[in-house]
Amino acid sequence: MYLRNLALSHYRNYDELSLTFDGQIQLFIGNNAQGKTNVLESIYLLSLAKSHRTSRDKELIAWNADYATVRSEVERRYGSVRLEIQLTAKGKRAKINGLEQQKLSEYIGALNAVMFAPEDLAIVKGAPAQRRRFIDMEIGQVSRPYLHNLSQYNKVLAQRNQLLKDIMARKTHSVEMISIWNTQLAELAVKLLRKRFEYIRKLETWAMNIHAGITDGKEVLSLHYENTTPVVPEMDANQAVESLLDAFEKSFEKEKLRGSTLIGPHRDDFSLQINGIDVQTYGSQGQQRTSALSLKLAEIELIKEEVGEYPVLLLDDVLSELDEHRQTLLLETIQNKVQTFVSSTGVEGLKHQVIRQAARHYVREGKISSEG
Ligand SMILES: Nc1ncnc2c1ncn2[C@@H]1O[C@H](COP(=O)(O)OP(=O)(O)OP(=O)(O)O)[C@@H](O)[C@H]1O
Ligand SMILES: [Mg+2]
Repeated sequence: MYLRNLALSHYRNYDELSLTFDGQIQLFIGNNAQGKTNVLESIYLLSLAKSHRTSRDKELIAWNADYATVRSEVERRYGSVRLEIQLTAKGKRAKINGLEQQKLSEYIGALNAVMFAPEDLAIVKGAPAQRRRFIDMEIGQVSRPYLHNLSQYNKVLAQRNQLLKDIMARKTHSVEMISIWNTQLAELAVKLLRKRFEYIRKLETWAMNIHAGITDGKEVLSLHYENTTPVVPEMDANQAVESLLDAFEKSFEKEKLRGSTLIGPHRDDFSLQINGIDVQTYGSQGQQRTSALSLKLAEIELIKEEVGEYPVLLLDDVLSELDEHRQTLLLETIQNKVQTFVSSTGVEGLKHQVIRQAARHYVREGKISSEG
């Protein structure tokens, strides 16, 4: 899939912007703070209905305006679709071919995008919450039921936690309610877990291959789901729910004291190993960076596998940071397949032929021209 064009109104530091895209690689060049990331972010927003940088949509609206819109015509295998996201102080609306989607989960998936930005090193180095966000967002892109289950899970979890807090504060004695939440939570948790197991396994297959390519076969990258529950992939859904209910029962005493749910997908994590050694703890900077790159490239292939089309790729400030060998590998992976938006402060660090011939957009103070 690819974007034919992009139109922004009152988005961040853009008043009105209208671009058409010709060619596979679109390069955005400009000094710091001119609006390069803002453009890539707007494409990400079109894909996932949220920014990769902030959870506060209000920040995306230009300071002097009270709404923002992002629009694009996206070419897909089955034809073209017009996408639009509109943000106001009251909330956001997402449209496909002019039709407002009642739920964002129905909108997401109309455009698939993979972002690779410096912050993504956090997938390897950061806290568990960042890795959970990564898996949830990525599965969510290719599975609407997952998104739906996740939001249900979070609702039930919040209610269960509230009850635990009330029990802790002796505000309630209705301890029986807990078993109702347990059942609901366990059923939803199992749906999430089974999808995550499957996703991590598939992602690993791709990432392992790609990583071996980058390191000339010297490093074997593996992924491991770090589970706070006793559920394992071999269990069928019923067994999994039973084992989870059991585990809830066992942790209830502790949970009453803590006033929160201590086991479940909201507490899980995954780890990366190179040749059997944990990358987060022992990996070198280079290994951590390469692992993050392998994961991102794996994600591209996985989306292709699930959706039948390649996503678009957003490379914010990362290409020039990679050494020549890795740049070449990345560009060869995407060549002729993946529409790619690259931001960079200059072209000096970009060595590869493919990128030197890319369509160039010069970014200056919220305006873009094709002349440097
Ligand atoms: N809501 C907003 N309204 C107006 N301007 C904004 C808004 N949000 C951010 N900006 C401005 O956008 C600019 C930053 O744009 P962006 O992050 O795209 O820069 P960049 O070109 O990627 O720079 P760098 O090379 O440093 O990453 C800043 O000058 C910031 O003040
Ligand atoms: Mg930037």
